[in-house]
Amino acid sequence: MAQVVTRSVGALLLLCCLWAVSLVQAEDPYFYFTWNVTYGTISPLGVPQQVIMINDQFPGPNINSTSNNNIVVNVFNNLDEPFLFHWNGIQQRKNSWQEGMPGTNCPILPGTNFTYHFQVKDQIGSYFYYPSLGMHRAAGAFGGLRVNSRLLIPVPYLDPEDDYTVLIGDWYTKSHTALRKVLDSGRSIGKPNGVLMNGKNKADNDSPLFTMKPDKTYKYRICNVGLKTSLNFRIQGHTLKLIELEGSHTVQNVYESLDVHVGQCYSVLVTANQEPKDYVMVASTRFTKYTLTATGLIRYTNSKGPASPELPKAPLGWAWSLNQFRTFRWNLTASAARPNPQGSYHYGKINITRTIKLVNTVSTVDGKLRYAINGISHVDPTTPPKLAEYYSVADKVFEYNLVKDEPAAVDEQKVTLAPSIINATFRNYIEIILENHERGIQTWHLNGYSFFAVAVEAGKWSPEKRKNYNLLDAVSRNTIQVYPYSWAAIMLTFDNAGLWSLRSTMAERNYLGQQLYISILSPARSLRDEYNLPDNSLLCGIVKDMPKPPPYSA
Ligand SMILES: *[C@@H]1O[C@H](CO)[C@@H](O)[C@H](O)[C@H]1NC(C)=O
Ligand SMILES: *[C@@H]1O[C@H](CO)[C@@H](O)[C@H](O)[C@H]1NC(C)=O
Ligand SMILES: *[C@@H]1O[C@H](CO)[C@@H](O)[C@H](O)[C@H]1NC(C)=O
Ligand SMILES: *[C@@H]1O[C@H](CO)[C@@H](O)[C@H](O)[C@H]1NC(C)=O
Ligand SMILES: *[C@@H]1O[C@H](CO)[C@@H](O)[C@H](O)[C@H]1NC(C)=O
Ligand SMILES: *[C@@H]1O[C@H](CO)[C@@H](O)[C@H](O)[C@H]1NC(C)=O
Repeated sequence: MAQVVTRSVGALLLLCCLWAVSLVQAEDPYFYFTWNVTYGTISPLGVPQQVIMINDQFPGPNINSTSNNNIVVNVFNNLDEPFLFHWNGIQQRKNSWQEGMPGTNCPILPGTNFTYHFQVKDQIGSYFYYPSLGMHRAAGAFGGLRVNSRLLIPVPYLDPEDDYTVLIGDWYTKSHTALRKVLDSGRSIGKPNGVLMNGKNKADNDSPLFTMKPDKTYKYRICNVGLKTSLNFRIQGHTLKLIELEGSHTVQNVYESLDVHVGQCYSVLVTANQEPKDYVMVASTRFTKYTLTATGLIRYTNSKGPASPELPKAPLGWAWSLNQFRTFRWNLTASAARPNPQGSYHYGKINITRTIKLVNTVSTVDGKLRYAINGISHVDPTTPPKLAEYYSVADKVFEYNLVKDEPAAVDEQKVTLAPSIINATFRNYIEIILENHERGIQTWHLNGYSFFAVAVEAGKWSPEKRKNYNLLDAVSRNTIQVYPYSWAAIMLTFDNAGLWSLRSTMAERNYLGQQLYISILSPARSLRDEYNLPDNSLLCGIVKDMPKPPPYSA
């Protein structure tokens, strides 16, 4: 399916001058994929239901790449609805054009195709892709996306025998259109019907998900691709040695189980050092009144018998989960995508230039359920804000900064529905406080960056809490969970020009408005900072027939 083509700089120079600018640095290999997106019918919970397939696969194919590879995916939308893929966790340096979010891209219309072209630049780690429009992710079209280290760069563990992707997530038997109707009518989608692990609900003796050779060590990449439920992941009789978390090498602690919140990915090592038989992987719901479970089978190649019917139990309560979060540490001496050690970036010594405090709320507007951030409940305009900025017509599409850095008290907030875009100064170092006044857990994701998750604590944030921040070895990552009545602090430098989504990873919440975009414009309009709108970009809304603006200068 994928073929490697290494193009020489010489060949590139034959191409049009403009393309050459962005591709000269890209002597890195190209991987080409053609993906046919269609409906299909499967019965993961025993009831036939419509799902979205990629090349007849559910979940979709895994993308396996190495730092700096170029990935080209030609997507044929054979659904009856507009469609986009988002490459969750891929930073798209200078290139928010490839984000595939409704704020950056026009949708791929039914019966048409569009080619994504991006480089997995300067990053390593375990990620996933998913469809970003219209609750499609409730129906599938997600898959694993791994970025391996370049051979030159030492990895802080021995090469595993094999590399496995485990996609876990809550699951509904209703179709994405039915779920969308429920949300559009102003109600909640309620509780899921089950949990899936790589598209299946129950361990199947006839087809184990993975096999392990005795005494060998395997890498498992576990991502929660579900809609709203935190899951605990564990393997009967085996421990999990954490090695990587959303692009960072971690201190290699050993865990009995891991809480994986919606949108998060963890890489662990598992050694087949137990009695030769079958074992069960378990993913079960956390922080819910109900318990739903998925199981998947691992078979030792010399297995002498079935897995024990007794499943290891999940931990109880969220204090356990908070304590686990606090054990996650950056390995300061390990190198990630670049040869220099991770810890040579002293994030704790940089002065903060701005503090943005974001509070999530749930409310009813005109009788309908809405979720908001600082009183603004986002709606996608028909012209993607990124295109509106590029064509200099942003003022016709949205108003900047409806979300203020310091929100009004929650009980004084009047919830407004509007496109929500805040702007920030290129290269500023920012602190974002995420405060959760609700009784449920919240999980956030930021596109285009990884950030330092320096604190998660119960209660409300105040400036004195800064003395509790981990300014030494907090993990640089792209999601953070915020426990009930708690807060989290993250820090990052806005050095990636573009338009980037900050959102609740929980599908119901972001569909009903709990998201915003952060616009970082390079003042120079220079190709050093941001690529031009690609030639193949789809256009829609008010920019559809506008003349192309002059390209950025070199
Ligand atoms: C995609 O799949 C559909 C349905 O199976 C088929 O009709 C169509 O020809 C396929 N398109 C491509 C480009 O493979
Ligand atoms: C794909 O994964 C395997 C290890 O699982 C690795 O050896 C191979 O080089 C990978 N391909 C790329 C392009 O990274
Ligand atoms: C659609 O697919 C064809 C190849 O089948 C390709 O030549 C063309 O560039 C694609 N269109 C876009 C917009 O990516
Ligand atoms: C951190 O990485 C270094 C360098 O690769 C490695 O030698 C060390 O064992 C790692 N430390 C921990 C605590 O995982
Ligand atoms: C950070 O702020 C402190 C106090 O305002 C100042 O003394 C220091 O020089 C600043 N550091 C940098 C790197 O700007
Ligand atoms: C944010 O946008 C407003 C309105 O376009 C502009 O006046 C302001 O300078 C921008 N601020 C930053 C930091 O880019």
